[in-house]
Amino acid sequence: MADQLTITSPDDWHVHLRDEQMLERVVADTARAFRRAIVMPNLRPPVTTVAAARAYRERIQAACPAELDFTPLMTAYLTDDIPCEEIESGFREGVFTAAKLYPANATTNSAAGVTDLLRIDSVLDCMARIGMPLLIHGEVTDADVDVFDREATFIERHLKPLTLRHPDLRIVFEHITTEQAVDFVGSADQNLAATITPHHLHINRNAMFAGGLRSDFYCLPVAKRERHRLALRKAATSGDARFFLGTDSAPHERSGKETSCGCAGIFNAPHALESYAQVFDEENALDCLEAFASRNGPAFYRLPVNSDCITLKRRDQLVPELVDGLVPFHAGQILSWTIV
Ligand code: DOR
Ligand code: ZN
Repeated sequence: MADQLTITSPDDWHVHLRDEQMLERVVADTARAFRRAIVMPNLRPPVTTVAAARAYRERIQAACPAELDFTPLMTAYLTDDIPCEEIESGFREGVFTAAKLYPANATTNSAAGVTDLLRIDSVLDCMARIGMPLLIHGEVTDADVDVFDREATFIERHLKPLTLRHPDLRIVFEHITTEQAVDFVGSADQNLAATITPHHLHINRNAMFAGGLRSDFYCLPVAKRERHRLALRKAATSGDARFFLGTDSAPHERSGKETSCGCAGIFNAPHALESYAQVFDEENALDCLEAFASRNGPAFYRLPVNSDCITLKRRDQLVPELVDGLVPFHAGQILSWTIV
């Protein structure tokens, strides 16, 4: 059994870095392990212009400790009436790496999201033409659809028709949580990929209700039944190039989690790579960690892989109850891998 693992440095293809003081608190947690990260645009107000993305990128760089080599990759927040020209010029100028589709009101700060995919059809045409990836929060928002069925329903109602309407559009189905999503991505062509979070590999929906209501395990899309978790573990550790790392680390203040209507989001950045390593180890698939964490993402985004390496050692570490006042994923637990 390998006790040490050296892989090409990984990237995080989906993270929430927030802004202002929260940004300063969390950016190093991501930058310590990941060379690049796709940064979500769901700020208040959302990042809908090239100028806003440029300014946000500068704030991230300013907040990141100088000794860490970290490149934030910015995303545009799609709205019903975002102009094609804004998306295209941002992509061509190297400011926008991708654009993010939040169905309106699907999750945190998504009120300005898209109300009907048909309204952005010309933007999607443009993105397909220029090769710009579309990142999708894949849940329907209809109140009459059970919260645990929202992802599977999104595939049928929206994602399948979308891939038929725009076969050349390159799509990342973000933070998938169901076997339906695994199957759909697995049977699609190379234009469709998916990110998988550490928490959806570790917990099923029971975690939210273990002995009481545990908001620290509440995120969107919510964790599903055990059989879905097992399907995600199989996909992530399979070596299939369409599945890659995206933590969806989403920090919230304690006051936002410890309340009668708590925010969705799990803060996993401080130990994300070790958390994934544990899953790959448990699945006897450590040899596939590098593909998932460091190769498949750059291949999909058509970016070079990182040129340096990171080493993990099989060494227990106790995850603290709090990291900078925030409850990290795995708080109080022992992880069996440590970054050297
Ligand atoms: O759990 C989540 N938190 N899911 C999302 O889609 C958004 C995120 C956040 O911004 O807090
Ligand atoms: Zn997210």
